[in-house]
Formats: sequence, structure tokens, C-alpha cells
Amino acid sequence: MNQSDQPNFSLSRDDFPKGFRFGVSTSSYQIEGSNFGGCGPSHWDSFAAETGNIADNSSGDIACDHFNRWSEDLDLIRDCAMGSYRFSFSWPRILPTGSGQINQQGLDFYDKLIDGILERDIEPWACLYHWDLPQGLAEKGGWQNRDTAMRFADYAQIIAEKFGSRLHALATFNEPWCSVWLGHYAGVHAPGLKDLHATGHALHHHMLAHGEAISRLRDCGVDNLGIILNFEHLTAASASPEDQYATQINDDMINRWFMQAIFKKSYPANTLKHLEPYLPQGFANDFNTIAAPLDWLGVNYYSSYCIADNGSGKFPFYTHAPSNLPKTEMGWPINATGLEEIILWTQQEYSHGLPIFVTENGMATLSDKFAIADHPRIDFIDQHMHAIRNAINKGADVRGYLIWSLLDNFEWAHGYGPRFGMVHVDYETLERTPKLSWKALQKILS
Ligand code: GCO
Repeated sequence: MNQSDQPNFSLSRDDFPKGFRFGVSTSSYQIEGSNFGGCGPSHWDSFAAETGNIADNSSGDIACDHFNRWSEDLDLIRDCAMGSYRFSFSWPRILPTGSGQINQQGLDFYDKLIDGILERDIEPWACLYHWDLPQGLAEKGGWQNRDTAMRFADYAQIIAEKFGSRLHALATFNEPWCSVWLGHYAGVHAPGLKDLHATGHALHHHMLAHGEAISRLRDCGVDNLGIILNFEHLTAASASPEDQYATQINDDMINRWFMQAIFKKSYPANTLKHLEPYLPQGFANDFNTIAAPLDWLGVNYYSSYCIADNGSGKFPFYTHAPSNLPKTEMGWPINATGLEEIILWTQQEYSHGLPIFVTENGMATLSDKFAIADHPRIDFIDQHMHAIRNAINKGADVRGYLIWSLLDNFEWAHGYGPRFGMVHVDYETLERTPKLSWKALQKILS
């Protein structure tokens, strides 16, 4: 391919404030391979083992074999001149049954990984929970059980003691909305439940676990702590009271629930009205723990939806209505302006002066023609870079942009079909090949 076939981004590093960070995010279950290195089973292993739960009946058994190929993967981050790398710790790799016995091979792996990140002059960002709950805890009720929040704090303490001083930043949870609603209500993620009682309990216990972990981490002297939440840009399908109400409920559920607990010590009233009977008794007593001060907020943003009333007359009232937005090959509507609005909104309504990092944003391709020549991804990232810059120009304190993701990987219930990476992975040979988006990013970062 000659130079002119290689598309570029329209912004450069200099278009962002000094010190603005560029990087990538990944997660343990999606890349490491859960079948070796002494990793205990997680509820994602159990969920994936049930036929029909994953589109291609695959699992994270091997994934990208990052557990063995981490060094090559870190070289790819360094060679692209990215300054930050966010990974997640696998709870069952550290504690195979969720508590008690520690897996030394797990500690050794993260030791090498973190040292390898630092040696390459990259900032290590980590997240404690990207959905791989140890099966041992799942069998005791998982997130429905208040005790899981306490076990999470114990696990956080182990991470703090072993790795805390070498991490640049640490988040408790990644996208609790997904792990609660997709896992306990929609049944499409582990643990595969469709149960509002389980959902209500899991919702609150995620928040409690977050607060307990933050105070435990602070006690251990770890700082630069945050949480990573996913946001969607929503518009109502019409001005009808029904569509407006359905949109409010969806907004409460995805955009406001966790923010309001952390920043305002309450749950959004409209939605609480419907969910209160399913929450654990005495939940309000936990808000002081949940609202422990944070150092930054992670914003994950992918898409924008048009919301309509679903006609059921029952919670959660909403459905996605057709919209005219362009869509990715996965069918996710693309709306970069939505990111700008969400960033400004989070600051105005909830997080005020807290620094924001866009901790995930990206898109999947499905067809072979984009496997390496991923022009749509370059376009997508470019649009979202502009959105972030616009938000900064309007006064938002955004300090970094971490793209999802470094590698093609296990996309949960969709299996290995959708490819989110800037680096292609051949799942037969596990060979890594940088895509055009990686090259375009390298050009503006080096
Ligand atoms: C999420 C997760 C990632 C996904 C990505 C694409 O945001 O859902 O953090 O694990 O793979 O978002 O769906």
C-alpha cells in the first residue's frame, strides 16, 4: 500500500492540552485466557460454557493468550507511542475461589505486567472489576449477596498491598450498568439472570463494594482512585408524555443511577419509585460509604439512542426506536456530538471539578475488508477526538482518551465476531498485526 492509501487523523497531539493522555483499555477476561496460570473459574466461564449464551459458542479460555504474550502486546502500545495503558486485574486469577488462598502465579503475572508497562515508559491504569466474578462467590449469591461487597474490599486490599505503589491510577468498577442490568435483568451477560430482585440487590451491592473498596484503598495509602461508568446519549422519540417518561427512566438507569449515588448520596427518584421494593432493606444507610470522594471519573461512551415507550405499562417502560444516525457494522448508532454533551453534562450535573478521562470509546468491524484496513475506525476515532476537544474548549476538564481497544478480543455474548482492536488478532495463530488505525495514531503520537 502506498502512503496516500494510509488515512490520517485530522487532529494532532498539539490540539489537546499539554499532558493530555492517549492510550488504550483492555480487560482480563477478554484478552488474558482464563484457562491457565492458576486462574480460578469465574461466572463468565460458567456462562460461556452453556450452549447458546455466546454467539459463536466461544469463551475466554484462550482469548488473545495475553497471559503469555503480554510482552509483545506492551511493545505494541509503546511502539504506537501511547502513554497510558488501562488493564483489569482478574479477581479469580488472584484469588481462585474469590477469597482466602492467593494464586502466586497470578501475582507473578501482574508483577511482570506492571513492571513491563513501567519499563516502557507507559502509565499503568488498572481496574479491579471488569466482570469476571469468581465462581466461588457466584455460588454464594454473587452480587445479590451483601458479603460479596466485603470480599471485594478484601481483594482490593491485596491489590493495594502488592501493586498499589506502582499503579498510576486505579478504578474500582468498569461499567456496573452492564454487569448489573445485562447480567441480572436482560440475562445476556453472566450470571444470565432475568430477575428484578437480583438486579436491585446487585445494583446496590456494586455501589457498596465500590465505596468499601475506596476506603480500604485509601487506608492502604493508594491514591488517584476512580470509577469507570458507561454513558449513552439519549433522545426521546417524540414529545409524548409516554416517550418522555420512558427516556427519563432510561436516563436514570444508565446515566444517573451510579453518579447520583456517588455524588449526591441518593438514587434518582423516578426510577427509585419502581426499584425500591427490589433493593436491599436499609440501602440508604450505605450512601455515606458509597459517596467516598474520588480523584477522577472514567467516562465510557460508544453510542446514542432514540428512546420510545414500549407500550407495556411496566418498568422499565422503554425501548430503542429507529434513528437516522449512521451505524457501525454491529448496528450501534454513531453520534460523536453525544460524547461532547455527555462530558459537559457529567461535569455540570454531578462531578463538577473532578478530572474526567474518557476511558473507553471505539467501534467494532465485522467484515473481512476492514480487518486491517479499518478506515471506519479511523473516522470514528477522529470524530470522537473532535468531540473531546470541543468539550475541553467549552470548559470541561478532560485529561485523557483511552481507546477500546488494543487488540481484537472476546466481545462477551457476541464472541469473537466483532473486532474492536487497533491491532488485528488471528485467532488460529494468535498473530498480532497492527491495523491502519494503529498506524494513524502512531503518526500523531510519535
Ligand atoms: C464495555 C466493556 C468492554 C466492551 C466494549 C465493547 O464497555 O462494555 O468495557 O468490555 O468490550 O465496551 O462492547
